[in-house]
Amino acid sequence: MKYQIKSGAPEKQRSACLVLGIFDKRKLSVPAEQADAACNGALSAALASGDMDGKAGQTLLLRNLDGITATRVLLVGCGKAAEFNRAALRKAQATAAKALSKLAGADALSTLTLLELKDGSPEDAITQSLLSVDAALYRFDELRSKKPPVQKLKTLHFAVSAKTKALETTLQRSQQTAAGVSQAKDLGNRPGNLCTPTDLAELAKNLTKGDRQMSCKVLEEKDMQKLGMGALLSVSRGSRQPAKLIIMEYKGGNKNDKPVALVGKGLTFDAGGISLKPAAKMEEMKFDMCGGATVFGVFRALKDSNLPINVIGIVPASENLPDGDANKPGDVVTSMAGITIEVINTDAEGRLILCDALTYTQEHYDPELIIDMATLTGACVVALGNQATAVFANQQGLADDLVAAGERSCDRAWQMPLWEEYQAQLKSAVADVANVGGPGAGAITAACFLHRFTRKATWAHLDIAGTAWGNDKLGTGRPVPLLMDYLYQRSA
Ligand code: BES
Ligand code: MN
Ligand code: ZN
Repeated sequence: MKYQIKSGAPEKQRSACLVLGIFDKRKLSVPAEQADAACNGALSAALASGDMDGKAGQTLLLRNLDGITATRVLLVGCGKAAEFNRAALRKAQATAAKALSKLAGADALSTLTLLELKDGSPEDAITQSLLSVDAALYRFDELRSKKPPVQKLKTLHFAVSAKTKALETTLQRSQQTAAGVSQAKDLGNRPGNLCTPTDLAELAKNLTKGDRQMSCKVLEEKDMQKLGMGALLSVSRGSRQPAKLIIMEYKGGNKNDKPVALVGKGLTFDAGGISLKPAAKMEEMKFDMCGGATVFGVFRALKDSNLPINVIGIVPASENLPDGDANKPGDVVTSMAGITIEVINTDAEGRLILCDALTYTQEHYDPELIIDMATLTGACVVALGNQATAVFANQQGLADDLVAAGERSCDRAWQMPLWEEYQAQLKSAVADVANVGGPGAGAITAACFLHRFTRKATWAHLDIAGTAWGNDKLGTGRPVPLLMDYLYQRSA
């Protein structure tokens, strides 16, 4: 899809479809009023017939109205006028996009971006409109033998009161973010047999190839052996797929600018290992690489962005399967940091691969800060459900920035405690630390485990177990919007 911004009287623009907002109780939005005047009240007449009253989710299609240049007019319900916020705009744009995608027209002009938001600027309207439309039109068809027909809609224009530099930049950036979200979704949706650590390494090479600001390096198991990554390698030992440590670099900033490091859990399938998971919903554990998918999504968004920052993306990738050579409960492994770990539960494997990746990140780069993303704990889903990503940080300013970025981008996150008192739950009878912390506060003790490996860094951990995919069993692309907003904000 191509997205553009357009100024000028909407009712006079040539397009296959003009999209107009109607608020609850048949209240015309300002652009709808203007169009209604141009067509001598044909819109109010259609509403008076009772076909639509403006509730969210409703649409009404009209054709060939005198005085309106566009071939069609699509009226879209926007809910209560007094409550029109970014969430309502997202919903209305998605409803409109789904209706437009069923029409034969190749382009459309949406005036919903002109409606005043209770909680945002005209720039926010563009960003949320674009991301919402792109999500509504997203499809994952690569594994179907019969492809659905190609969508006719190719270009969507967003109406603006005046074309400004700020709006053009916003459109550009939102488009980049949308591409990153789609990339992350595609990877999450791919099943474990078609998205192995080797496949991810291949993708990293392709994504960075030929880009003068990007490069990529992949560490093999023998390299990781030399580095002493005993925790990471203990997880992949039970799998026939070799683990990979994927490293991507984006150099948009000055040579001496310290990079932001993004580390993403890339468990391409998590069966739990010897501590085998129950069968119900186990197929969803193909999404256990969504932290890694987020890193790929961000790099996809950074590509051609010219954003003046340096970013390192690190994805430890492995499977976690039961096997004669797999980790056994009670095994003790030595991490790259030298900390010995008792593997009480082989299903707490994410922290085992992440701790070595985090140590590597600190030893081989000198990052300004580190953010890791991981589908780390079922406990996080219990705590926050599907609404918010959990944020843990050892510096309050970083936690605040990430929560604010989540709020701004409608990709919300909520801070959880990283108190030292929780560390006691990770005591092991025989090793430096246990890989699980008992039944209480599972998301927190997982974060506390990682914190033992990031004491000297400025670090945040995002548990995306509840937000990376939905009940529809499709990836969401979260938290790519949050991270892109954070990076845009940093480089401003
Ligand atoms: N990948 C899972 C976490 C998960 C579970 C994410 C369900 C989303 C939905 C992780 O590797 C895991 O298995 N964690 C265990 C930790 C436990 C053994 C301490 C969990 O949450 O049950
Ligand atoms: Mn697990
Ligand atoms: Zn896992």
